[in-house]
Amino acid sequence: MAGGPSTPELVAAVTRAGGMGFLAGGYRTPAQLADQITRTRALTGGSIGVNLFVVSRNDVDADELEDYRQELKYYADRYGIEVGAHKWDDDAWQEKLDVIRDLRPDLVSFTFDCPEADVLHELTTLGIHTAVTVTSTSEAVTAAGRGARILVVQGPDAGGHRATFDPAADPGTDALPELITAIRNTVDLPLIAGGGISTRQQVEAILGTGAAAVHVGTALLLADEAGTTPAHRSALHDPAFTETKVTRAFTGRPARGLRNKFMDDHERPGHAYPQIHYITAPLRAAAARNNDLQALHLWAGTGYRTTRTGPAADIIADLAP
Ligand SMILES: Cc1cc2nc3c(=O)[nH]c(=O)nc-3n(C[C@H](O)[C@H](O)[C@H](O)COP(=O)(O)O)c2cc1C
Repeated sequence: MAGGPSTPELVAAVTRAGGMGFLAGGYRTPAQLADQITRTRALTGGSIGVNLFVVSRNDVDADELEDYRQELKYYADRYGIEVGAHKWDDDAWQEKLDVIRDLRPDLVSFTFDCPEADVLHELTTLGIHTAVTVTSTSEAVTAAGRGARILVVQGPDAGGHRATFDPAADPGTDALPELITAIRNTVDLPLIAGGGISTRQQVEAILGTGAAAVHVGTALLLADEAGTTPAHRSALHDPAFTETKVTRAFTGRPARGLRNKFMDDHERPGHAYPQIHYITAPLRAAAARNNDLQALHLWAGTGYRTTRTGPAADIIADLAP
């Protein structure tokens, strides 16, 4: 979970509890990622995963981006700041791959797109398991064809960004069990399925569909070891938030979070990722400084109501069959 929640302490605690913790590579510098892997390794000798963003080049409509910047000016003015400039970058892809080659976590998962076959093959040769997050059968076929060893199947109820390869496409809405069945009927790879899972009964049901493992994000957001911000923590149990919603307003990519005013006010920002992420970054920082929960990206899956506080080990024990 990029953006703070995944800390070395959380990852190590999940691994020690019998799960497999994942560090977030996204948004960090390569040096920060290397430091996080080293710190996690010092906390556990067990298996750990690292997640990387695969950011494709995109054709953006500069006028559309400028329109969105103008649309957001009212909010920047409120805090006496400027709307962010838009730019593209690849989240330091090559440099982060170098960190992975050097420090060799047990598993690397990729989101937002599928790496080229040579990258997947090279990592496999180095003894690193590779997983690609998919949201449809066609993405699963692509990932399998390029040599991914594991698929992370992300259903429509998932918190945070959807992994859908084409940022312009509307993400699929097939429920997770149907998605797993469709992918199992097409591709012969182990599946780590998740999205909206917050109870042991749900874990059992998903394992019953033939998934090899279940992944959770939101269920760990309130763990003692998580780096979730105080604002995000308080919002998850704030009765003012009554549902989650998928939005492109914050980053251009569809992502599920607690429904708030910013989402409702900005329904058609376009799909330029990461450009829109950079446009809204100063606004989100100001919202965080001012504890403005109506303008923050409060990522959460549909199971957010049953998230509980406490040590990650207890949360995993509650979920494990
Ligand atoms: C706060 C937050 C941050 C996330 N960041 C990432 C990320 O950096 N990379 C990624 O592949 N998935 C990310 N996800 C999605 C999770 O990997 C996973 O698919 C999702 O949390 C599962 O649904 P659930 O939250 O309902 O358990 C994030 C989810 C949340 C809630």
